[in-house]
Amino acid sequence: LPDFPVQNEPVLGYLKNSPERKQLEEAIKQVSSQVEEVPLIIGDKEYKTDDVRYQVMPHNHKHKIAKFYYANKEILNKAIQVATETQKKWDRVPIAERIKIWDRAATMMSKQYRANLNATTMLGQSKTMIQAEIDSAAELIDFFRFNSYFFKEATKYQPISENPRETINSMRYRGVDGFMAAVAPFNFTAIGGNLAYTPALAGNSVLWKPSDTALLSNWQIFKICREAGVPAGVVNFVPADGPVFGDTITASPMFAGINFTGSVPTFQRLWDQVGKNLNKYVNFPRLIGECGGKNYHFVHSSADVMTVVNGTIRSAFEYCGQKCSACSRMYVPESLWPKIREGLLAERDKLKIGDPTQADAFMGAVIDARAFERISGYINHAKNSKNLKILGGGKCDNSVGYFIEPTIIQTTDPKDKIMTEEIFGPVLTIYVYKDGKEDEIMELIDTSTQFALTGAVFARDVPFQKKALDTLRMTSGNFYINDKSTGSVVGQQPFGGARMSGTNDKAGGPHYVLRFANPQAIKETF
Ligand code: SER
Repeated sequence: LPDFPVQNEPVLGYLKNSPERKQLEEAIKQVSSQVEEVPLIIGDKEYKTDDVRYQVMPHNHKHKIAKFYYANKEILNKAIQVATETQKKWDRVPIAERIKIWDRAATMMSKQYRANLNATTMLGQSKTMIQAEIDSAAELIDFFRFNSYFFKEATKYQPISENPRETINSMRYRGVDGFMAAVAPFNFTAIGGNLAYTPALAGNSVLWKPSDTALLSNWQIFKICREAGVPAGVVNFVPADGPVFGDTITASPMFAGINFTGSVPTFQRLWDQVGKNLNKYVNFPRLIGECGGKNYHFVHSSADVMTVVNGTIRSAFEYCGQKCSACSRMYVPESLWPKIREGLLAERDKLKIGDPTQADAFMGAVIDARAFERISGYINHAKNSKNLKILGGGKCDNSVGYFIEPTIIQTTDPKDKIMTEEIFGPVLTIYVYKDGKEDEIMELIDTSTQFALTGAVFARDVPFQKKALDTLRMTSGNFYINDKSTGSVVGQQPFGGARMSGTNDKAGGPHYVLRFANPQAIKETF
């Protein structure tokens, strides 16, 4: 096979005294020593409102790192107007030109601004060095490069003329008339970049509402892209209150679509608003969303214990279990339970939580007070329920930062809410099943939650792997055999889930960018 023409950005090692480590340490010092002021940006103009907000460090929540402003309705309407006007010009910029800008931005992220992107992600979102590197460096850069490559490939498609002497048939790929919106989550800086800039690549203009708790890292992306040549008004940076943002954009006739990552109720509310406004719109808005999961590790008696233990610790606890793909429910056969239990608890004990900028930290803090309350609520539920037993962890302390220990719980009820609801924190719950009852467990996996994002089966028995793959085919958008449920790589495992996990448009895959394109088929007759 020929080499794939785009390569994934290498993940750097950050060894002590390495050049990248020194640059990162410098950037961390610089970011933590100031409160950066971030204006709203519409077109080439800066705006400020009376609604002042701050971003703090989750692991030291008295420490502010950014001051920013919420857009009000009026400002958002201004952004809609500017974006809609800009789209008409931007759509005419040849795709090859746009791709050059994206490529320049990717190179700047890789060479010039890597340390800054990582430092703002580490401090603002409480990520460790490696977790920041795979997100705000590698994955972000990959999204820019791969989406460009996939778009270039897709636009090569041209219909073949039936009668070349009389007609020429062709396709061109335009953006959608109007504006699109990007509503980004806190948990991956790269997702923010992808949500806002992939619709833009396809010829759309965008109102970008970053997450309040990922503000500074998202702002770096915005600045880099402007410097790389994304024209003013193509992406407009408008932090805002969620419902105010949602109501304002969906009320505009020019609303052309949304690229969303967040909760199920928020995405449902958006659909609802769109439904109410349907007869106003110039287009049928494209509603693209990813909404979380209740991801599983399903262990078969033929599994390799160390593979299960290492994969589960990483999936459940890296970035405090705040990856959408994190494992939070696990099914283990009785025969392997003593060894898996011992392994999980021993590994759990070694995990260091604290300031994520310390090189030996495995976990920082969870993102904010609301997350802390929600997650500690589930831990308290475990403390008070007779079906649940906390085997390790369970301590929560928010006096300095929002710290929650990696927590391992055993349940005798596989339908307890701790096994069915999304927790989005470092809480892993295990149900031990009788060997031979795999079919019942697969039925449970399939039916006990509303989600279908990621899942993993651990088995060395190959016929069983095939059976699981078939039986569990609707339970996840990303399915892993003998590997953890997290860590999809752009261009390798396109990411997204079905059911209430989202519209499964597969970020990082070859067709993603086409969701935002508006193709026109042209027949020229002579
Ligand atoms: N792509 C990430 C993962 O697979 C989640 O967003 O872990």
